[in-house]
Amino acid sequence: MSYPYQINSFDDYKTAWAKSIEDPEGFWGEIAGHFLWRKKWDKVLDWNFKEPRIRWFAGGKLNITENCLDRHLEKLGSEPAIIWEPNNPEEHHRILTYKQLYFKVNQFANVLHNNGVKKGDRVCIYMGMIPELAIAVLACARVGAIHSVIFGGFSAQSIADRLQDAKAEFIITCDGAFRGAKDIPLKNVIDDALIACPFVKRTIVFTRTRTPVSMIKGRDVWWEDEIHKVETLGNPDFPAVEMDAEDTLFILYTSGSTGKPKGVVHTCGGYMVFTNYTFVNTFQYQPEEVHFCTADIGWITGHSYILYGPLGAGGTSLMFEGIPTWPDAGRFWDIVDKYRVNILYTAPTAIRSLMGFGLGPLQGKDLSSLRILGTVGEPINEEAWHWYDEHVGKRRCPIVDTWWQTETGGIMISNMAGITPSKATYATLPMPGVEPLLVDENGKEIEGDNVSGNLCIRSPWPGIIRTTYGDHERCRTNYFSAYPELYFTGDGALRDENGFYRITGRVDDVLNVSGHRIGTAEVENAINMHAGVVESAVVGYPHEIKGQGIYAYVIYSGTHGDEALIRQDITHTVSRIIGPIAKPDKIQFVTGLPKTRSGKIMRRILRKIAEGDTEHLGDISTLLDPDVVEQINRGRLSH
Ligand code: PRX
Repeated sequence: MSYPYQINSFDDYKTAWAKSIEDPEGFWGEIAGHFLWRKKWDKVLDWNFKEPRIRWFAGGKLNITENCLDRHLEKLGSEPAIIWEPNNPEEHHRILTYKQLYFKVNQFANVLHNNGVKKGDRVCIYMGMIPELAIAVLACARVGAIHSVIFGGFSAQSIADRLQDAKAEFIITCDGAFRGAKDIPLKNVIDDALIACPFVKRTIVFTRTRTPVSMIKGRDVWWEDEIHKVETLGNPDFPAVEMDAEDTLFILYTSGSTGKPKGVVHTCGGYMVFTNYTFVNTFQYQPEEVHFCTADIGWITGHSYILYGPLGAGGTSLMFEGIPTWPDAGRFWDIVDKYRVNILYTAPTAIRSLMGFGLGPLQGKDLSSLRILGTVGEPINEEAWHWYDEHVGKRRCPIVDTWWQTETGGIMISNMAGITPSKATYATLPMPGVEPLLVDENGKEIEGDNVSGNLCIRSPWPGIIRTTYGDHERCRTNYFSAYPELYFTGDGALRDENGFYRITGRVDDVLNVSGHRIGTAEVENAINMHAGVVESAVVGYPHEIKGQGIYAYVIYSGTHGDEALIRQDITHTVSRIIGPIAKPDKIQFVTGLPKTRSGKIMRRILRKIAEGDTEHLGDISTLLDPDVVEQINRGRLSH
């Protein structure tokens, strides 16, 4: 047993789970005792779901970076903390030991301080997957600033919305980012966003691609110049700012069923304990192992299982700048081979896309270092699960199917590798501290085996969302009001005769496209911005690789252009408003949408048509104009 709180048998799991539910304060208090606190908490847990008010370890004082860096220096100072593989395999990789990472985080914390960043300030980070992104995130945490990382695939408009919502006055970015064959001009996108954000005081720009950028006097500074200033002062350590366990660590924007993404707020203490606990237990991490999580740090998976979980545990985390299919579809396997990766954690979309290239790219790659495989982000289908098991894990690596969300901070339902049973396509059993239940439409609990319903959680775990930034009521209505006294996940699930959970997908108007969460209302708003569009309705449909594709029904009144061109214009509009990740896969022009007499769009019908399941449209007699369904059906775009 490598960590005092590492579970090492199925019985051990059962005991831990039972204790965590009977006595959550005793259970989590003991685990939290293994971390570095400047002052112990006053109370482990204080909560109600009505407001909601959720406070873990309140009164406890800490800085998460002392747990991720300082406390490892003595024993692990020369061990690799981050291994970085560049986009271009010809370029040199980088390894940062704990000592080096500590040094660089301190150095950049000084830069932030010198540029006026203080505790509680919001700092937006918009960078590619380079070590400086990890350094920027950790430096924010060290000075007590609240980081808000924005994925590189979001547009200027999306960035501006997030900057305005968080009132972020500071930005850390790069000139550009390399992704596969592309070179993305990040600073240009930031410049476009800043037209609408005059309150931004400072932009710090790291040089990655040497693409031309405009640096505005008084606002924009180069990362390298600022580091140089700290060097001339002799690189003093930056004393970590003391935070309360319930002070905000970060904001991460995610999509819901309304048109506007919400800023999910996580705090320092509970998030630290939960990400570490789940990392060490789900993956059964052993010291010195190389953990390769392929997510982008712009998403919660990267926050929790590239940065805070592995670093808190003194582990080695591999960060990859590129994409799985460039320069060829063997890239993941080259990386596993090159660094002797032990744990590979990726998304079903990536597996499905690599499956499409056959077994050729796997040939000649030594995958014998792999011990554990993981998936996250969307339901995994049987075929992909077995391909992963057979061809990547060679049938000797347990697969953990980890279900969780931006709002949950860390893994909620998953088998623990090699410790608890696994079942293809099932996330299986809850983590200790997590009590899932299924409810029907009326909020009545559905008990028993082989049943399905809406997935809720009964009481708080340390990584749970605390609020939505600047709008607590939104947090309450989104998660805590559908079913009183419960946290509602937005997912549907079924439970088998073993009590194992299988997540079947979202039951609200949220799509999961290639593991990215996108609200249908957001896409509709973007489509409706196009001058010729009268109205639109967006639904998901099953997509072989992406899991779900985006199907848009559009009423168009514009006069010029042929359909193909108008489609391109609409797609371009969505790309500008949200980002390329939200581009519709299919756009069908319609003359009307199926609406009830009260004007509500019947998405159920549109979903069925998009899926091609026109036999089971259900009762359409309540529609204002039932004929419209037949018209839409005739114009359906096949897949
Ligand atoms: O629908 C579930 C799906 O992803 C949603 C959460 O998305 P996001 O907040 O972006 O976080 C993704 C990474 C944690 C969930 O509501 N989801 C996540 N993991 C799984 C999953 N669906 C099925 N199986 C999973 N393992």
